[in-house]
Amino acid sequence: MNLFNKTFLVAALACSSAMYGFSQSYQAPESQPTDYLTPAFHAGRRQALRDMMPANSVAVIFAYPERVFSKDVNFVYHPNPDLYYFSGYKEPDAVLLVFKEMQSDADGSYNELIFVRHRDPAQESWTGRRLGVEGTKAELGFKRVYNSEEFAKFPIDYKKFKTIIYDDLDNDDSGSGAGGLKNLIAVFKEKTGLKSEDKGLQNDLNIINNYATPKNLDRIIAFIKPRADKESYKNNELIQELMNKPDSATLMDVKAKIAANPSGTALFDKYTNDLRGTKTPEELALVKKAVVISSIAHAEAMRAVKPSMSERELEGVMRYVHDKYGAEEEGYPPIVGAGANGCILHYEENNATEVKNQLVLMDVGAMYHGYSADVTRTFPANGKFTEEQKAIYNAVYDAQEEVFKLCKEGVNYSDLETKTREVLSSRLIALGLIKDAKEVGKYYPHGVSHHIGLDVHDKGGYGVPLKAGMVITVEPGIYIPAGSPCDKKWWNIGVRIEDDVQIGKDAGILLSGDAPRKWQDVEKTVAEKSIFDAGKFPALK
Ligand code: GLY
Ligand code: MN
Ligand code: MN
Repeated sequence: MNLFNKTFLVAALACSSAMYGFSQSYQAPESQPTDYLTPAFHAGRRQALRDMMPANSVAVIFAYPERVFSKDVNFVYHPNPDLYYFSGYKEPDAVLLVFKEMQSDADGSYNELIFVRHRDPAQESWTGRRLGVEGTKAELGFKRVYNSEEFAKFPIDYKKFKTIIYDDLDNDDSGSGAGGLKNLIAVFKEKTGLKSEDKGLQNDLNIINNYATPKNLDRIIAFIKPRADKESYKNNELIQELMNKPDSATLMDVKAKIAANPSGTALFDKYTNDLRGTKTPEELALVKKAVVISSIAHAEAMRAVKPSMSERELEGVMRYVHDKYGAEEEGYPPIVGAGANGCILHYEENNATEVKNQLVLMDVGAMYHGYSADVTRTFPANGKFTEEQKAIYNAVYDAQEEVFKLCKEGVNYSDLETKTREVLSSRLIALGLIKDAKEVGKYYPHGVSHHIGLDVHDKGGYGVPLKAGMVITVEPGIYIPAGSPCDKKWWNIGVRIEDDVQIGKDAGILLSGDAPRKWQDVEKTVAEKSIFDAGKFPALK
């Protein structure tokens, strides 16, 4: 549509929305999915947060900003998963406050407030419905709801709270006007006196707090060291203590000090990791849908593949299947890499016009009602693994099988990594690709697992024992780019097999089993017919 007309029409509507028959009362759209998370779920999550919070505290959670895609067109908006988790609110320019204790004012008592984006009939006729105050009450069950323009004057005396729990106030604060995110954060900073912390520094302190053990000293130091010369790091006593005396005793001392005096952002990190890491039954139902949809899509991509197909067309096969089952988007940019491209871990160009007779690595996961799957399959486009491809594929497969056995309550998360390295290194040594187990990182450069959920790399913590209800990936991989110091016959083989597993009390539950895994099943599926074989499209002139 012509943008001049759009701008003109928005202005006209803004002046005279009533004459276009818009109603200010909130009207729910018709014919919607019926399996969204409920207001009771979100209220339960707020109560769980409240239960964890210390006496005399408040938690403050802001919306994510909108982002420009092109001049007057924004990227599809993605809500802040934490705000969504605790409220169900999916729009920008909003802030949620959860109080530990009941508060009171002239209108009565409350222990939560939400400030939301105001209604704007003219704008809504272009960019979609807004819940507004009434809709947030009706659809999300909040009692105290205000337009975000009212946040600045709402009488909250932050000084009376012992602890203010909040996510890092970085500079990601776009959004204009009194109710825009930029102003909401500015008001909060001014009233509380809190400053944006150095995001990297806070993150590093949280990593020490959450993950440091006497055994992983070297990894923690190596992780932090590249930033240790930054001004904020030099001014931080705890980082200095560790850098001056980088031994296990100091690491544990620093960890204890961080834990004894947690910042508001460290508490936010801890509570949201604890809560979001273990999925409720309602969340499990949505994660499973995302994973099963993705698995069906992976199987269809295997059936559809032909050496003459492009990486993008294969991506499109999967996206179509996701849409068919109602998944609104993908949880991350799809990765579809043939041959050498399969050795690039997060290859996103998906630009090769033919996959040829090569291995194709597809790491593609649907997002269903906000919950992301993360599934990878690797298959030969011509339906037959070569001997070398099969050897690498089976090494990865066997590592996965061993790790699956550990996916139960009580096992340390880090044991999954140890087992993966053990299996992959012994197989790489047996194949003559490395000489010593220490070299395994040459061909296995990433980790084996992460939580999935509202974020593809979800909150949940990694220095923790596994708990029933967690949902994690198991994703070993071997990547041998051309030029690697080994026989050329291995070059350009990149294999990742990634499955999603629900941790159980005694055993894990494989959620992504609808996507073939065994090499024999993969070959069989590639040989099958696809619904996409029938598609006849005219050649572009
Ligand atoms: N798809 C990103 C990952 O596997 O972590
Ligand atoms: Mn993953
Ligand atoms: Mn993945």
